[in-house]
Amino acid sequence: METRSTGDDNMKKYFLLTYGCQMNELDSEKMAGILEENGWDSAEALDNADLVILNTCCVRAKAEDKVKGKLGQLKKLKLANPRLLIGIGGCMMQQDNVGEKFLQKFPFIDFIFGPHTMDRLNEIVEKSCTGRVLELEADRFDVPRLPIKRESSFRAWVSIIKGCENFCAYCIVPYVRGKEVSRPPAEIVAEVEEQIESGVKEVVLLGQNVNAYGRDTGKVDFGRLLKKVNQVPGLERLRFMTSHPRDFSLKLVDAISEMPRVCEHLHLPIQAGSNRILKKMNRGYTREDYLRLVEHIRNKIPGASITTDIIVGFPGETDEDFALTMDVVEKARFTSAFTFLYSPREGTPAANYSEQVPGEVKRERLNYLMKRQNQISLDYNQVLMGTVTEIMVEGPSKKDSEFYMGRTRTNRPVVFSGKAHPGCLQQVKLTDCNAHTLYGELQED
Ligand code: 5AD
Ligand code: SF4
Repeated sequence: METRSTGDDNMKKYFLLTYGCQMNELDSEKMAGILEENGWDSAEALDNADLVILNTCCVRAKAEDKVKGKLGQLKKLKLANPRLLIGIGGCMMQQDNVGEKFLQKFPFIDFIFGPHTMDRLNEIVEKSCTGRVLELEADRFDVPRLPIKRESSFRAWVSIIKGCENFCAYCIVPYVRGKEVSRPPAEIVAEVEEQIESGVKEVVLLGQNVNAYGRDTGKVDFGRLLKKVNQVPGLERLRFMTSHPRDFSLKLVDAISEMPRVCEHLHLPIQAGSNRILKKMNRGYTREDYLRLVEHIRNKIPGASITTDIIVGFPGETDEDFALTMDVVEKARFTSAFTFLYSPREGTPAANYSEQVPGEVKRERLNYLMKRQNQISLDYNQVLMGTVTEIMVEGPSKKDSEFYMGRTRTNRPVVFSGKAHPGCLQQVKLTDCNAHTLYGELQED
């Protein structure tokens, strides 16, 4: 097979594989930044790399299974090339004793690290040339600024807060990402300014719960931070994720409605629609609170797109509870929803609840929910047919390189014919759609 390199052929090459959420994507961009500052170059494919790093996720069992599947392939690569370095990082390694277990079970792994030791990646790689390394820390109380090799030329993810202290009963994140630590606002604004100067048009503020921003410092809160970032000259679009409905006040909605750069898209994970289940999940809001928030958004931010995450089959979920989830789906009319089968995570309270829902029931509920949500997503898209909307161009469409794709301010993907420059804002007339994608025609200026 022909393999091409992106730079100097004598440089050592790394290959990074990322699983999970945007936070992990950003962490991988930081790992790439650290490696490239230290003389590494990116490999185009796994099999022409000198160093392979898996940045793992453990939020659901499926993410872990994918990592374990990949390890089989890495073992073969190591047998063929014993000088290949293999490292595993990310949330999965941060779980109790998982790092140690991995080193024991997989002798071809050279080093293990986690989100809290990622800033030492270069030293870890160097040490691993002379012996196997396990470098983990329980938590971290600062957020070191690291070099970043950004994947996109026009969109920058900017982390504003690390960790989560919500302890939703099903979720492993607080155990692996640790306590909430907010980055100083001045540092965030400076990073946004730098990015704008280098050509970025869209900024996505990231945190496991962005609404908790400033809770640890007692100073600038999320609303005030948004206002500061919204004022950075040259910024076209501002997004943020993930929000927690409990901490998303009606006042914040009002404030956002007056910030022209904040896009009309809010990702508000509801998780379940039954108050009994929401309480067992430790979510801190009721279905009524959530629907009030949705109504306020619809009133204050016309045309807003609201997306969500829903878990089906949380322990003890009855047919009646599930019907209440479906009822919220009907009332909130989400543009789209990420839907998940509940997956027990060792160490979380819900994993020990006695009333686990049988797999078959979970799958049946998930199918029912997905089918109905797809219809609602299609309805949402069909209403837009014939309208002209602004998109930010991303590049060639992944499915068909004859076409290009971009995103509306509401974050819906739009596929269109004709070439356009990534990062450009263009007007597109929407002409066709399915549940997940809009199709359109570029409008001449
Ligand atoms: N099982 C299923 N889904 C989960 N999520 C988090 N933990 C679990 C779990 N144990 C989902 C939630 C969250 C999203 C990122 O993943 O919906 O919002
Ligand atoms: Fe997990 Fe809840 Fe924190 Fe989200 S808010 S990361 S679901 S514990």
